[in-house]
Amino acid sequence: MAAVESGWQVVGLDNSTARVEELNSGHSPVEDISSETLSNALKSGSYRASSNYEDISNADVVTICVPTPLDDKKEPDLTALRSATISSAPYLKNGALLVSESTSYPGTLRTGVIPLIEKNRPMGTTQLFFATAPERVNPGDQVWNQKNTPRLVSGIDKDSHDKAMDFYRSICDEVVPVETPEIAEAAKLLENTFRLVNIGLINEFTKLCGPAGIDVNKVVTAASSKPYGFMPFRPGVGVGGHCIPVDPLYLTWWANQNNLSSPMVELAEKTNTEMHKYVADRALKLTRSNKQKARVLLLGVAYKAGVSDIRETPVSHLRQHLIDLGHLVEWIDPLVPIWEDTKPTNELKGFDIAILAVNQPGLPIADLQRIGTPILDCTNSFSGQNGIQTL
Ligand SMILES: NC(=O)c1ccc[n+]([C@@H]2O[C@H](COP(=O)([O-])OP(=O)(O)OC[C@H]3O[C@@H](n4cnc5c(N)ncnc54)[C@H](O)[C@@H]3O)[C@@H](O)[C@H]2O)c1
Repeated sequence: MAAVESGWQVVGLDNSTARVEELNSGHSPVEDISSETLSNALKSGSYRASSNYEDISNADVVTICVPTPLDDKKEPDLTALRSATISSAPYLKNGALLVSESTSYPGTLRTGVIPLIEKNRPMGTTQLFFATAPERVNPGDQVWNQKNTPRLVSGIDKDSHDKAMDFYRSICDEVVPVETPEIAEAAKLLENTFRLVNIGLINEFTKLCGPAGIDVNKVVTAASSKPYGFMPFRPGVGVGGHCIPVDPLYLTWWANQNNLSSPMVELAEKTNTEMHKYVADRALKLTRSNKQKARVLLLGVAYKAGVSDIRETPVSHLRQHLIDLGHLVEWIDPLVPIWEDTKPTNELKGFDIAILAVNQPGLPIADLQRIGTPILDCTNSFSGQNGIQTL
């Protein structure tokens, strides 16, 4: 949509025909893009979705931004990136610029994407251009978006770099040129690893403060008064979504490939993935009767507030852990209709404890307070309020 707004003619290519139909019907599946914006783009003829790769044969610029998740062994799964690259290659026109926006380890453009294009590109194309411009998106963010978030760009050679800079300058307010694609790829991993490690530190700090009766959020707020050298991170149930829990493992995998290791990242990952156990323990201690079989209500199950995305949500681990301990678990999330093959509860009465995991809009906090259900607030949203304990 940013490219549409800048006057480009855009084809949104997706191998999911259901997704393509949804887009072409004017329904936006992306929270930060309204269906109205999408419909206007469709009506004006400046955008359409397609699952036919032939439709890129006229494209001056092809950006690939497919998922780069982890496989069963928690290692990089580049299946979608490889498949999108191979499918695009035969249709690249002479002089086209191909940009890899998907998050991946350093070297992905040079040693992964380009060789696949070279192998599958049409006979007769004399020149193609290649660049990396890692996507920086914070879903649900009211301030920072595609346009006003500075964009890292690096081409494989000077001509590619200049072309990519021109393209991103047309859709972003600020483009940051980076010397090599590997630096841009590594910078993306650093950004998200920085978050993982700092969240891990605060989660660890929480486990130290809790037993001493110290509210860690008050500690973070106090430390934040320092005008330099400190940045606040908050504790929680863990980290979720398809970036923070995933990207740092691209880094550790890459390190291992080079016979190196990244113990700090591995420890932060472990600390965050185990945080749900501490949360469960704290919550169960708040139940009035310390029951063997408590009724627990989870409030907010998406991976973060304001979104319906449940991918990699740490609340799943919390739910499973409580079930494994023999407790009864129900949940409410006004933005999520179905989760873990279950539906949200309509009943508020009879819970021994409620755990506010994600502060979604529209949660029945006041009702639960009225009923007298103790609440463990893992989000530091209701600190000091009646019946509410913070993590
Ligand atoms: N969404 C974010 O918040 C965010 C932020 C920063 C970086 N990223 C990175 O951007 C990339 C994409 O993430 P996303 O969350 O937008 O992905 P997504 O899961 O929303 O998928 C995007 C689309 O790609 C399609 N797709 C999958 N395989 C395909 C293929 N082979 N050919 C064509 N289409 C295919 C899917 O059907 C889907 O519609 C990832 O590398 C991610 O790490 C995402």
